[in-house]
This record gives sequence, C-alpha cells and structure tokens, in this order.
Amino acid sequence: MSASQDQPLLYEKPAEGIARLTLNRPDVLNAMNMAVRDELWSALLAVRDDPEVRVVLFRGAGERAFSAGADISEFGTAPSYAEARRARQDRDVWGLMLSVMKPMVAAIHGYAYGAGCELSLLCDIRIASEDAMFALPEVTLGYIPSAGGTQTLPRSIAPGIAREMVLSGEPIDARRALAIGLVSRVVPLERLEGEAMDIAAKLASLPADAVRAAKEAIVRGAGLPLDQALRWEAMIAARLRAGETAL
Ligand code: COA
Repeated sequence: MSASQDQPLLYEKPAEGIARLTLNRPDVLNAMNMAVRDELWSALLAVRDDPEVRVVLFRGAGERAFSAGADISEFGTAPSYAEARRARQDRDVWGLMLSVMKPMVAAIHGYAYGAGCELSLLCDIRIASEDAMFALPEVTLGYIPSAGGTQTLPRSIAPGIAREMVLSGEPIDARRALAIGLVSRVVPLERLEGEAMDIAAKLASLPADAVRAAKEAIVRGAGLPLDQALRWEAMIAARLRAGETAL
C-alpha cells in the first residue's frame, strides 16, 4: 500500500455503502498506539452516524500484518494508573465498536496478535489469507487480553480451545483458525482484498435495516438464556416490521 504513514488509521469509502478502515503503521506491524485508538474512536463514531455507511471493512497496511496488537512501546507510559483507567473509560473504543449495529468485516493477513486478534473478534465476519497467524500473547508478557479477548474468543470458538489460546498465548496459523471457526474463509493472499470487498459489497446491497436488525438480535441475544434471547429477537423483528430503525 502506498498511502502515507502519517495517518495511523486510513478512512476511505472505496465503494458505495462501504467504509474501509486501514490500520496504517506497517513499520511496527500496525501496532495500535494511543493515536490509532483515538483515530479508531473518531472513525467508529463516523461510521455509526453516517447513513451512507452500511458496512465497515477493516484491514492492515503493508505486507506483514493485520496488527501485532497493542503498541508495546507505550506500555507503562501513562502518567498514572488512574489516568490510564480514566482514558480507557472516557474512550471505550472496543465498547463503541460492539455498539455499532452495522456489519463489520475483517480482512486478515499476516499477524493478528493481541488487540489485532481482538479487534477482528469484534467484527462479524473474519476472513484470512493463508499467511495469517493469530494469537493472544498477553499472558506471556504478564498481562491479560483486555480488548475483550477473554470474553469474545470463548464466545466465537469452542470454549476449550479459546482457553488454551488465552492461557498459553500460543499462536495458531490460518489453517487451524479455519478448522476451529475463528475465521470463516481462508484465501490466497492475492485474493484477500477482492474477497473482502465482495463480501462487504454483498452486505451493502442488502436491505440495510434488516441487516442491522439481524446483527442487533445476535448481539443482544449473545450470552442470554434462550427464552430471553428469543424475546429480544421477537422485539427486534416487530420493530423492523413496524418500520422503526435499528439502533
Ligand atoms: N508494539 C510495538 N512495536 C511492535 C509490536 C507491538 N505490538 N509488534 C511488532 N513491533 C515492531 C517491532 O518492534 C519491530 O520494530 P523495529 O523494526 O523498529 O525493531 C517491527 O515491529 C517488526 O517486528 P519484529 O519483531 O522485528 O518482527 P518479527 O517477524 O521478528 O516478529 C512478531 C513478529 C509479531 C512475532 C513480533 O513482532 C511480536 O511478538 N510482537 C509483539 C506481539 C505482541 O505481543 N502483541 C500483543 C501486545 S499485548
């Protein structure tokens, strides 16, 4: 990719209805620093509020990574623990991402480690190229995944396999990611871009309110007992029939 590295996150609209967000720090494998998180915050507000945007597509710039996770060089640099906590609460990027009821697609190549993997877990559809590698290595550094990974991974794949990944920090390759359902497709690297755009375009062509309502039903029902989840489904279906817009 030839885009300027001055912008840590690129926001483009490559086709009708699609917002494409590119993590753009290829020299450090698209590690997510404060600047990336700030930009993500603004971009997510923009996609949430822009009626032109029907689908969000995430990818990483450069040859080697979707993202190698949180920027390790910033660890321990917050002025105080309280300040770090306040910053996280003021700008809960991952919570915001989860609240956007528009479909999100992650096109993953190379490393998807730590928050890179977790960001993809907050997307609805993950596709990967054959070179992709996934890991939540936080415990090996003395932390735990805290962009949702301890919760989203066990909700996305078999809980026992999720536990192994979270507790060991061991990476898995694309073939294994496909086998355990962490990604829904693996394609050759040269086809990743096109395939992801095709999926995004397909979703963007469908009735937007129905797609958003379907996502909302999935998100609201996740983790609830079936009877409560079904009540959400019925409520959201009724609201859609009544022509009321989803959140
Ligand atoms: N934060 C900041 N910088 C990072 C980074 C991260 N999470 N991951 C990689 N980088 C930087 C490296 O410091 C290196 O910078 P340099 O060229 O200035 O030295 C550059 O990206 C390339 O990484 P490098 O480690 O040389 O590549 P590699 O092929 O040997 O290894 C990884 C790739 C992903 C295995 C390795 O970079 C890694 O383990 N990164 C950290 C992953 C991680 O723990 N993420 C979760 C954080 S909680």
